[in-house]
Amino acid sequence: MNRGVFISVLMSMAFGGSSGAVCSSQTASSSLTYLVDTTGSMVNYLSQLKLVNSWILDRVTAKFPCGARQYTLVEYNDPSVGPVRYTQSKQDFGNYFNTLSASGGGDCPELTMKGLEMALINSPPKSYILVFTDASALDYGNTTLVNNVRSLITTTKSQVTFLVTGYCNTTTSPDFSIYRDIAALSFGHVYLFSVADIYKVFNYLDYTLSMPSNSSTQLFSGDFTALTHNESFSITKNFSSMMITTSGLVYSVQILGPSSFSMDQVVTEVWGFVLVVKKPTKGNWAIKVNAGGIHAVRIEGFTAFNTTSSCSKCHVNATCEDYYGSLQCLCKSGFIGDGIDCTDIDECAYSWTNNCSVGVCSNNIGSYTCKCPSGFYSPTPYSCVDINECLNSSLSRCHPLATCVNTNGNYSCSCPSGYFGDGFNCEVNDCLRGVCAAGKECVKIIGSYLCVDPCSSYIALNEPWRSSLNYVSPSYADSSSYRCDSNLTGWYRFIGSGGVRMPETCISSFSCGTHAPMWLNGVHPTTSDGIVNRTACATWSGSCCLWSSNIQIKACPGGYHVYKFSATPACTLAYCTDPATTPTTCEADEEWKLGNQGYGCYCKNQYTVSSLVDMRPELTCGTNEMKASFHKCQAKALYFTLSKDSFKNNGCFQFQDDKYTNTFSVVSRLEAGNCGVQPSQNSTHVKYTSNLLILTEASGIIMRNDTLTVTVSCVYPLDMQTSLSQALKPILKSLVVNVGGTGQFTVSMALFTDSSYKYPYTGSQVSLSVKDTLYIGAYIQGGDNSTFVVLIKNCYATPSSNPNDTVKYYLIKDSCPNKQDSTISVPQNGVSREGRLQVQMFKFVGDAYDSVYIHCALGLCNTVTGSCVPSCSGARSARMDVETQDVSFGPIVRSAASYHGPISASTVSILLPALLLMVSSMFL
Ligand SMILES: *[C@@H]1O[C@H](CO)[C@@H](O)[C@H](O)[C@H]1NC(C)=O
Ligand SMILES: *[C@@H]1O[C@H](CO)[C@@H](O)[C@H](O)[C@H]1NC(C)=O
Ligand SMILES: *[C@@H]1O[C@H](CO)[C@@H](O)[C@H](O)[C@H]1NC(C)=O
Ligand SMILES: *[C@@H]1O[C@H](CO)[C@@H](O)[C@H](O)[C@H]1NC(C)=O
Ligand SMILES: *[C@@H]1O[C@H](CO)[C@@H](O)[C@H](O)[C@H]1NC(C)=O
Ligand SMILES: *[C@@H]1O[C@H](CO)[C@@H](O)[C@H](O)[C@H]1NC(C)=O
Ligand SMILES: *[C@@H]1O[C@H](CO)[C@@H](O)[C@H](O)[C@H]1NC(C)=O
Repeated sequence: MNRGVFISVLMSMAFGGSSGAVCSSQTASSSLTYLVDTTGSMVNYLSQLKLVNSWILDRVTAKFPCGARQYTLVEYNDPSVGPVRYTQSKQDFGNYFNTLSASGGGDCPELTMKGLEMALINSPPKSYILVFTDASALDYGNTTLVNNVRSLITTTKSQVTFLVTGYCNTTTSPDFSIYRDIAALSFGHVYLFSVADIYKVFNYLDYTLSMPSNSSTQLFSGDFTALTHNESFSITKNFSSMMITTSGLVYSVQILGPSSFSMDQVVTEVWGFVLVVKKPTKGNWAIKVNAGGIHAVRIEGFTAFNTTSSCSKCHVNATCEDYYGSLQCLCKSGFIGDGIDCTDIDECAYSWTNNCSVGVCSNNIGSYTCKCPSGFYSPTPYSCVDINECLNSSLSRCHPLATCVNTNGNYSCSCPSGYFGDGFNCEVNDCLRGVCAAGKECVKIIGSYLCVDPCSSYIALNEPWRSSLNYVSPSYADSSSYRCDSNLTGWYRFIGSGGVRMPETCISSFSCGTHAPMWLNGVHPTTSDGIVNRTACATWSGSCCLWSSNIQIKACPGGYHVYKFSATPACTLAYCTDPATTPTTCEADEEWKLGNQGYGCYCKNQYTVSSLVDMRPELTCGTNEMKASFHKCQAKALYFTLSKDSFKNNGCFQFQDDKYTNTFSVVSRLEAGNCGVQPSQNSTHVKYTSNLLILTEASGIIMRNDTLTVTVSCVYPLDMQTSLSQALKPILKSLVVNVGGTGQFTVSMALFTDSSYKYPYTGSQVSLSVKDTLYIGAYIQGGDNSTFVVLIKNCYATPSSNPNDTVKYYLIKDSCPNKQDSTISVPQNGVSREGRLQVQMFKFVGDAYDSVYIHCALGLCNTVTGSCVPSCSGARSARMDVETQDVSFGPIVRSAASYHGPISASTVSILLPALLLMVSSMFL
C-alpha cells in the first residue's frame, strides 16, 4: 500500500443506523479525543490522516448507532497549545479535522506534554486519546507538568495511544521514552510507523474502538526490554473475547491456554500486533514473546455487550452468538451495525477495505466482486491475481527458444545467448561468429548484420567542461551543477578545446565538471590494434577506481581515437578529457592529430610524407611561368624548413612564401634556357620542363641531409604566343597597352617562317628569296580574354626607315588586303586574338633600294560594342573607328648569299630591331 492509494479514495462510506434510539450506557463507545501536532513538518501526515479519519468515524458510529460520545480535537504547535474544540456530531468533528493545517514550528521536539494535559482536562473520563505527532516531547523534563498529566490519567482512566511517525533524538532518550511511560500508565501504546501505513493503524483502531467502554477488563500489562520472555496471567471471568496487543518490534507471540481455543490475527505489523481469542476459557494462560527491541504487551478481556434474551431480535443478516448463556447479535461479515440493525459495508469505498488491487471493485449487498484487468484472474470474486503466462506456452507468444519472464499483469521474453531478437522472434546472432573484419564493429539487425567502422560512425563530444582542469566546487548545493554521463551509449569522439583524449592517469574528484571523473585505466591503442577493451575508472572517496566501466577504444587513421561508452555506473560520474591533447590552430595543410611526436599539427592525410621522395609539388602552369608549390608541412615532417636556400640555382628562380596555403613556391619563367627550362614541341603542343634540386639541411637529429630532384613540366597548345615564347630570340615587337577600366594588354607582332605561324624567325637576321613568302603575325597577350580582338588596320612597305617615305607599297589598307597584289592574303584579321598577313617577298625597283621596311598600324577592337570583322568584298572598305598604334620592322636588307636557290640576288635579310615601343592609353 502506498500513499497513492489514499488519493484514490473518493467515496465516503454510507452507513445506516437508527438514530434517536435510547441506548444503555453499556453500549456507549469511548469518547474520542485527537491531540494533533500542527507544526509544519506534519503536512503529509495530516493529509493522510484526513483520508482515513472519516472512515474510522463512520465505522465507530455504525457499530454504536446510538452510542453517546464526545469528540474532542486539541491542537498543539510551538509555542502555543490549543485551541480545543469538542462536539457530539461526527460531521462537525470531521469538519474540524479537515480544516487543520500544518505550519510553524522549526526545531524538532514539541510541547506534547502540555498538549496532553489540555486534552485530558477537556475530555470526559474513560476517553480514548490518540496523539498524532512526528516528534519527541520538548517538555518531558517539566516535572510539575508531567506529574499533573499522570494524575489526570489516574483519575479519568483515559487511555492514551501515541501514533508517532518520527522522533528527534533516539527512541530511548527521555524525550521519547516519556511516551512509553504515559502509554503504560494508561494501558495504551506507542506505535512508531511510517505515514504510508496509517490505514493499517486505523484497522487496529477499528477493532479497539468497536469495544464499548464498559465491557473491558485489564488482564495483563508490561513494558519490556528483554527480547524473549514468558509471562502468565489467569482468567477468572467469562469473556466473549480476549485481545492481546503489542507495540514495538515483536517477532512472535505464542499463547498457551488451559484448553484449545481459536484465535484471529487482526493486525500483524513491525510496529505491533493485535490478536483476538474468542471465548477464552477460565484458568491459567501463558504467553511467550520473541521481540527485536523495547516493546509492550497489553491483554484485555471483553464481556458480551448489548446482550439479548432472544435471537429473534437479531437482524436477518446477523448471527446470534451464545456467550455462556448471554445471547449477542453480531452482524455477519460484509455488514456493520450493532446486530439488531445491520447495513451493508461498501468495501469499494476505501482501497484498504477490499482486495481488488489492480481490479475494479464492485460493491453488492454483504460483499463485493473484483473485475480484473487482462493479465490477471480472479481465484475468488474478491481478489485479482497475476496470471503467470510463462507457465503455459499457450498463454505466451515467446519464441520457442526464448526465456519467458513473468511480470505483474504481463510477461517478457528474451532470446537465449547467441541469439538476437525481441524474444517473440529470435535468430542466430551472426555478429558472434566474427563476421566483420578486425577494427569493424558488427551491428546485428533483423535478418542481417552490418559491419560498421566506428572511425566513421561516431558522435562528436565537443564539451570543454570535460577537461580534467575544469575543477568544480564541492559545495554546490544543487547537484544538477554536476555532469553525469548516464545517457551516453555508443561510439564517441572527443573534439574541441577540452581535449581529444581521455587521461591515462588518476584524476582527482570534483574535476571534469562532475563529482567523480572517469579516466582511462590503461593505454590508448594504436591503429594496428583495432578495437580494444579497456577499463574506465571513476575517482571518489579517496579511491582512484571506486566505480569502473568497460569501454572500447579504436585508434583511427586520422590520428584520433573513438570510444565506445555505456552509461556511467552511477551519477554523478562523467568521462574526462586530457586538456594536454587540446588542438591548437594548425596551418592550412595541417590538422590536429596524434603523430610520431604526440599530439600536434601534422600534414592532412592527403599530404602525409614519410621521406623526401614523397614531396610532390602542386604545379600551376601560367601563361608566362610555371609554379611548383611545396607544402611546408611536408618539410616540417621531414625535419627541415623550406626556403630559398633549399633550392639549387636559386638566383634565377622567383620564390613565393604563401602563409595562407602554407606553401613555398618556385616560379620559373617560360623562357628557353632560363634556369634550365627546356621547351620541346611537336606539331600541336609545346612542353616546358624544369628540374628543381632540393637540398635539405637537417634541423633535427633524426633526418640526415638529403637531396631530391623534382622534375616539373607544363604542356601548352602551340599557338603564336607560345611558339614565340619558347623560341630563342624571336624577331618580335611589342606594344604595352592600358585600356582604361579593362586591363593591360601587350600587342606583339612577329615574323614567321610558314603558314602555321608557329615558327618565328629567330636570331638577328633572316634571309628570304623573292620566291619566299613573308608571314606577319600579330597577337594580344593578357587582359580580358573575351572582349578584344586584334585588328591590322594598315600595313605598307617603304624602301627607307622613314614611315613617311614617298615610296609606299600597301599590303593592307583600311583592314583589307591590297587587291592589286594577288600574293597578299589576310587569313585572319579582326576575328581573334591573332591576326595573320602573308605576302610573297618582293624588292623595290632600282638598285639603290636593297632594303624593305614594314610599317603597320595595329589596333584592339572591342567585340562587345560592334563588329570587328572587316568587310572587304565591296568596292570601298567600310572604315572601322579603331584607334591604332604604329609598329615598324626593318630594314630588310637584300642579301648577296642565297640559301634557297640559284637566284642569289633575290635574297633579303631582316635585321632584328632593338627598339621596344611603349605606349599607354592608346585608345578605348
Ligand atoms: C511546567 O508546566 C507547568 C504546567 O503546565 C507550567 O505552568 C510551567 O510554566 C512549566 N514550567 C516550565 C519551566 O516551562
Ligand atoms: C539525546 O539523548 C541523550 C541520551 O539519551 C541525552 O543525553 C540528550 O540530552 C538528548 N538530547 C536531546 C536534545 O534531547
Ligand atoms: C442493543 O442496541 C440496540 C440499538 O442500539 C437497542 O435498540 C437495544 O435495545 C439494545 N439491547 C440491549 C439488550 O440493550
Ligand atoms: C441481507 O443480505 C442479503 C445478501 O446476503 C441481501 O440480499 C438482503 O437484502 C439483506 N437484507 C437486509 C434486510 O439488508
Ligand atoms: C544526455 O542528456 C542530457 C540531458 O538530458 C543532454 O543535454 C545531453 O545532450 C545528452 N547527451 C547525449 C550524448 O545524448
Ligand atoms: C572485449 O570484450 C567483449 C565483451 O565485453 C568480448 O566479447 C571481446 O572479445 C573483447 N575483445 C577483446 C579484444 O578482448
Ligand atoms: C604533342 O604533345 C602533346 C603533349 O606532349 C601530346 O598530347 C600530343 O598528342 C602530341 N601531338 C602529336 C601530334 O604527337
